[in-house]
Amino acid sequence: MALINENYTKLPGSYLFSDIARKVNEFKAAHPDANIIRLGIGDVTKPLAPAVIDALHKAVDDMADASTFRGYGPEQGYDFLVNTIVDNDYKAYGLDIAADEVFVSDGSKSDTGNIGDILGLDNVVAITDPVYPVYVDTNVMAGRSGELLPNGKWSNIVYLPCTEENDFVPALPTEKVDIVYLCYPNNPTGTTLTKDQLKVWVDYALKNKALILFDSAYEAFITEDNVPHSIYEIEGAKEVAIEFRSFSKTAGFTGTRCAYTVVPKALMGYTKSGEKVSLNKLWNRRHTTKFNGVPYIIQRAAEACYSVEGKKQVKATIDYYLNNTKIIRDGLLSQGFKVYGGVNSPYIWVKTPKEMTSWQFFDYLLAELNIVGTPGVGFGPSGEGYLRLTGFGTLDNTKEAVSRLKKISI
Ligand code: MLT
Repeated sequence: MALINENYTKLPGSYLFSDIARKVNEFKAAHPDANIIRLGIGDVTKPLAPAVIDALHKAVDDMADASTFRGYGPEQGYDFLVNTIVDNDYKAYGLDIAADEVFVSDGSKSDTGNIGDILGLDNVVAITDPVYPVYVDTNVMAGRSGELLPNGKWSNIVYLPCTEENDFVPALPTEKVDIVYLCYPNNPTGTTLTKDQLKVWVDYALKNKALILFDSAYEAFITEDNVPHSIYEIEGAKEVAIEFRSFSKTAGFTGTRCAYTVVPKALMGYTKSGEKVSLNKLWNRRHTTKFNGVPYIIQRAAEACYSVEGKKQVKATIDYYLNNTKIIRDGLLSQGFKVYGGVNSPYIWVKTPKEMTSWQFFDYLLAELNIVGTPGVGFGPSGEGYLRLTGFGTLDNTKEAVSRLKKISI
């Protein structure tokens, strides 16, 4: 008799974005003529940059020739990509990250989900609330979450509310926690932490031997000076933090799949008896055992994002999405909505009108205006009463969405 991992039975029926996709598909089936504008899941709409496409074509040719063909590559990523990442994303900013601290992967969703493999089940986990649902769901799967309470919280997870009241800056936990997930620029609220605010967390982790799992998938959208691009800009962070970066939103790789995770060699975890163990070694062991590397052609495509042309083209696309975000933000603000985020991020966090719940507002937008957002409560209890919109649509759809939104009276 094959026993199952019963933790899975505790999870809500489906993943947030699958749930939304199902609802939208049902609506579409019932209203085939509706011109639906999708500003829900953070999926990109612009094609890959020309420099990336050129690199892909060339890499395909490499695979067609016995002298340049590649089979299994290094699980951690080819040197050409790892060294390019180190030089451009770290050394260029004065940050000393070594090549063997970088692990190329197929996505930050996978890495933030899988990182729990190397961490003990007795750790107390803290999350900001609202939060990217993967952090919570994967801890439920692992058995760290406890039980789901009627208030929508898991009994063993420490929630750090991020709301208008605290300006979306999480307060330090009052109880001792071992692992903290931080995502900045934040998904879903689109808000950021300044260097000083992030330093508070690094100092907390240093003092409490805690681990910070820092998701900076939206780093490329930072426009303001005092917002750190990497947690390693904060002194001491290499001793307490793992950083996750992705090409998905940065360079349109949501369907192409490439990301990387930095696990510094200075970062230690502990056995129950207090012995220090290198998390870099553990992650390397996990990665090489369970993952066979990102395809060669995709790694060549990711490398091309850093060429002179590639950088210009990637930046132009980011600017396009940021402009969409500004259009939505300005449109909603001019109507009197309360709006957050959207300055260093492709996400806008909007307070629902007329005390509607998140799902009521979601349903209203879909049924009346044919616009898809993401209900804030889907990201956690503190997201109730909010809805997330993205700047990842096309410019035309974005403008159309803003003009439809004008029909709402606040
Ligand atoms: C989101 O919409 O929050 C993201 O696109 C989901 C993801 O990156 O997995």
